[in-house]
Amino acid sequence: MILVTGGAGFIGANFVLDWLKQYDEPVINYDKLTYAGNLNNLKDLQQDARHVFVQGDINDGATLSALLDKYQPRAILHFAAESHVDRSILGPAAFVTTNINGTFSLLEATRAYWQNLAEPEKAAFRFLHVSTDEVYGTLSAEDPPFSETTAYAPNSPYSASKAASDHLVRAYHHTYGLPTLTTNCSNNYGAYHFPEKLIPLIITNARAGKDLPVYGDGQQVRDWLYVTDHCAAIRRVLADGRLGETYNVGGWNEQSNLSVVHTLCDLLDQLQPKATGSYRDQIKHVKDRPGHDRRYAIDARKIEKELGWKPAETFETGLRKTVEWYLANDEWVNQVQSGEYLKWVDLQYKNGAEVVA
Ligand code: NAD
Ligand code: DAU
Repeated sequence: MILVTGGAGFIGANFVLDWLKQYDEPVINYDKLTYAGNLNNLKDLQQDARHVFVQGDINDGATLSALLDKYQPRAILHFAAESHVDRSILGPAAFVTTNINGTFSLLEATRAYWQNLAEPEKAAFRFLHVSTDEVYGTLSAEDPPFSETTAYAPNSPYSASKAASDHLVRAYHHTYGLPTLTTNCSNNYGAYHFPEKLIPLIITNARAGKDLPVYGDGQQVRDWLYVTDHCAAIRRVLADGRLGETYNVGGWNEQSNLSVVHTLCDLLDQLQPKATGSYRDQIKHVKDRPGHDRRYAIDARKIEKELGWKPAETFETGLRKTVEWYLANDEWVNQVQSGEYLKWVDLQYKNGAEVVA
């Protein structure tokens, strides 16, 4: 079996659902269930004996060690993290606690478990660390995309904490020989995406008749990848990635934020038209994010060449599927937009990001 951390969050839940569609190999899903973790994402697995959910913190080394001894996984896939850049600006401590200290405590529990495994289990074991392109910092319009040899230059407390976790994983491979793999992926979108992030926030605000907040001039660029394409990339790296290596994962799909928001409005205009006017009328330019990275772009040639991975979805097909998923899942949206979420929206958009245009 495999052990997944953070498997109740956006990408982790998509990964677990996808994994169990492809294979019969069971999954231990270890998640603290922070505001971002949601068991409703895993509702389809309620009766599925191949999925074992354990609520817990990656900082709790004793529980992790007991779980590893009990279930003897052949691999750990580490998704658990604090993941929202804006939250890291307003409250960086949780990012250091989970992303740095938590990854350290998971690595320590893993090392102790792995060192005591018998051959060939020890040789076959894998620790796959799920990371982000944000560790490379920001690009200008003329720069080539990030490759695996681009120097780390994180700019936000979130990306700095992820960079630190990547370095710890690297060190555990080089120092102890732990069989690690790291993926650095660009912006994901798709089903179960928490509506504090741009794409689900725009869809849910548009439908609720609220402002569509675009930071600054909206010309910041992100490289968007449909979440199940990211899941497929992780499966390929787990199966055949070279030990100690990092693999950049991206969609060759650079879009400015304003263009993403326009496309979402146009899709909603088609799929759920307003009584009058367009959803574009709700767009509001608001104060920019402090230290906002201007452009991310991923050079994904290494994973394509070595592992034969390529995204299956285009931005057009992926975004349409995403909007359709949100239109069909009001219950999920209503459930996640509860107390804690409303407090965040109030803090970020009323005090932090007043309208500038
Ligand atoms: P998310 O915020 O939606 O989910 C994170 C999950 O981790 C939640 O279920 C949460 O409960 C859990 N968690 C948080 N702290 C924990 C702790 N201390 N112990 C155990 N569980 C804890 O995040 P996501 O968007 O699904 O991202 C998953 C991973 O992928 C993260 O490591 C993130 O850095 C990385 N990543 C995300 C993107 C993206 O676009 N979302 C892109 C590249 C990489
Ligand atoms: O690049 C990978 C990263 O992508 C992941 O590591 C992070 O976990 C994930 O959250 C994401 O980070 P971003 O900061 O790029 O995503 P977010 O959806 O928060 O913002 C996308 C862009 O949209 C960014 O330039 C900021 C802008 N934005 C965001 C929000 C929430 C707005 O203009 N308005 C908004 O209200």
